[in-house]
Amino acid sequence: MTALLATRVLKADAAAIGEAVRCLAAGGLVAFPTETVYGLGADATNGQAVALLYEAKGRPAFNPLIAHVLDLRAAQALAHFNAEATQLAETFWPGPLTLVLPKADNCPVADLATAGLDSIAVRVPSHAAARRIFEKFGKPVVAPSANMSGHVSPTNAAHVLADLRGRIDLVVDGGETSVGVESTIVACLEKPALLRPGGVTREAIERTLGHPIASPPHSVASGQDAPLAPGMLASHYAPRTPLRLDASEVDAGECLLAFGPKLARGFQHAARVLNLSERGDLIEAAATLYSYLRALDGAGATTIAVMPVPRQGLGEAINDRLSRAAAPR
Ligand code: TXA
Ligand code: MG
Repeated sequence: MTALLATRVLKADAAAIGEAVRCLAAGGLVAFPTETVYGLGADATNGQAVALLYEAKGRPAFNPLIAHVLDLRAAQALAHFNAEATQLAETFWPGPLTLVLPKADNCPVADLATAGLDSIAVRVPSHAAARRIFEKFGKPVVAPSANMSGHVSPTNAAHVLADLRGRIDLVVDGGETSVGVESTIVACLEKPALLRPGGVTREAIERTLGHPIASPPHSVASGQDAPLAPGMLASHYAPRTPLRLDASEVDAGECLLAFGPKLARGFQHAARVLNLSERGDLIEAAATLYSYLRALDGAGATTIAVMPVPRQGLGEAINDRLSRAAAPR
């Protein structure tokens, strides 16, 4: 790693947006809020800035990045949209949906950012601060989640600093993110396929398209890695403390990640209890998931016992991230 940078943190006002744009234009690295998680942005057209980004995150360069733009029009300069892709973009953008599409012939995004693939992941976030940055910058911004590779994604500026202080130039602090899990990734190459469950539910996508979509071509259970989603390694989104899923009781020395009004047996003995949503609301649970995983990781427990979370709606993304966090490393 190169020399330690003096990472600045600025509240997300007009001055911060100006600084972020100057920094991106100079080839620097800027963490900024989106509605899902904080992203670590670099000028997508600047190969050297993209290389710096991979280095700062400790991310393997075979794992491609999402290009973020202001609107569908800007996205069409990067990728080829078929009818279904257009329909999804018109329905869910701006918002927590990423589309993997054939790369446009004259796509200006650096080859390193797409890991040499002939597809590209594009996303149009809804967060106001992110949108102001894209608008002023006027070029695509590649942005993985602003954490060290393999760690839990950041949902506030403190999480970003815990991982990346000294490794990036600027953090634009926009408070807590609202969705709390990453965007849903849908590939529209031939038949649409769900590569990563996320902030837009499978149900909403299927309703829009009028037919079911293929499941992730890989799962933690099958232990296989998808050729289509190189970043979806089984062990990912991982705290240091091991997780025990579908816990109906708490064992000695464990802490508890709860869900719903009725706590697991033995919760009184837990080193610490955090409830994703006492009222059993999956939207609230998604928004609190990563903060609570980080907090329980620091509780000094042997294991994080995790109560079952329903699998429908946002529960698909929550269960996906929990399985990855629990996967053997
Ligand atoms: O919500 C989000 O999507 C956040 C915010 C910051 O926008 N970003 C994010 O980026 O989660 P990242 O890099 O942590 O995850 C992007 C995923 C990776 O698993 C990567 O492998 C996959 O997208 N990906 C990127 N380009 C791809 C492509 N051409 N084909 C298949 N998967 C791709
Ligand atoms: Mg990530």
